[in-house]
Amino acid sequence: MNQIVKPISSLAAHYYTDPAVFEKEKRGLLAKTWQLAGHISQLEKPGDYFTFEIAGENLFAVLTKQNEIKAYYNVCQHRAHELVTGAGNKSLIVCPYHSWTYELTGQLRAGPNVNVVPGFDKSNLCLSSIKIENFCGFLFANLDPDAAPMDDWFPNVREELTAFVPHINSLKPVEWVGVSEKCNWKVSVENYSECYHCQLNHPMFSTGVVNPSTYNIQAQGHCLRHTTECQNLDQMTYDINLDDNQHAAEYSSWFLWPMFSFQVYPGNILNTYHWLPIDHENVVVWRGWYTVDGADSEAVRQLAIQDRETTVEEDIHLVQSVQRGLNSRGYKPGPLVLDPKGGVNSEHSIKTLHEWMRAAVDD
Ligand code: FES
Ligand SMILES: [Fe+2]
Repeated sequence: MNQIVKPISSLAAHYYTDPAVFEKEKRGLLAKTWQLAGHISQLEKPGDYFTFEIAGENLFAVLTKQNEIKAYYNVCQHRAHELVTGAGNKSLIVCPYHSWTYELTGQLRAGPNVNVVPGFDKSNLCLSSIKIENFCGFLFANLDPDAAPMDDWFPNVREELTAFVPHINSLKPVEWVGVSEKCNWKVSVENYSECYHCQLNHPMFSTGVVNPSTYNIQAQGHCLRHTTECQNLDQMTYDINLDDNQHAAEYSSWFLWPMFSFQVYPGNILNTYHWLPIDHENVVVWRGWYTVDGADSEAVRQLAIQDRETTVEEDIHLVQSVQRGLNSRGYKPGPLVLDPKGGVNSEHSIKTLHEWMRAAVDD
């Protein structure tokens, strides 16, 4: 007797349309995963600091006098005033409310008249710190004090990325562009994480940058690794020198669950995606481009423009249409196309994402 096999369905629409699901993700997923805080080039000298936000929490990172990168909740341990704003350089952190003063290590140093308080023990008063890691020059923070290190979450990524971009530790951002998409962040992340739609929707990317027939995506811990060869050199929209590096003729990307991706275009050109959700139906996707020491590069600028005008623009229409469709009473989640051989026309990466998305929300 033939066994009846039921295809695996897409995620139910309410995961993308219900504000309560987003609130749950904010409290749980965003507060328990590694999120981009900034770039090491923002912390060049001891005392350099910058503020950032994760899961609605106001935070800041600073380089100590011992050249250690630290990150703290941006809140005074006296009566909760905000400590710093924007970015800059400080030898001490001085609260603007009653001028309690903290070392860059977070330790309270002094406060006016505190010595009159019986039992006041300043050695017990420290800023609340959070985990922060330098991952190939990109600083990621995690609000979960028990979070496993990034190398456990994303095995081998640091080594692979360094092999593709040997100069990664001396890069600085040259282009940093935010693109608003009217859709749930997961719709945008899923669209990034499959290339089943590429040949039809991204003609320039599929014929002028990568070779879709070799495209594949594999899970590597909580990373989704995309790999393919570049397009034939006479069809490439820009010049690459194959002698530069053993990976110069390849395209690869490392999507780090849930909201960041390193992407290396043929020619070892790094760019990044950083998804910042605004609410359950709006996300801003920040695209970053980098060069050694931030030097001006006509090639990188041209590539950033080409990418913005083609792939990025094409994807905006796709994801916004999907979000409208998810709100339709007429939509029932359809089967995923799972090809056991993998490859460009398989959605096995979406199946993996859906498992992670469900786990983040379901009790
Ligand atoms: S709240 Fe910071 S010194 Fe009082
Ligand atoms: Fe796309």
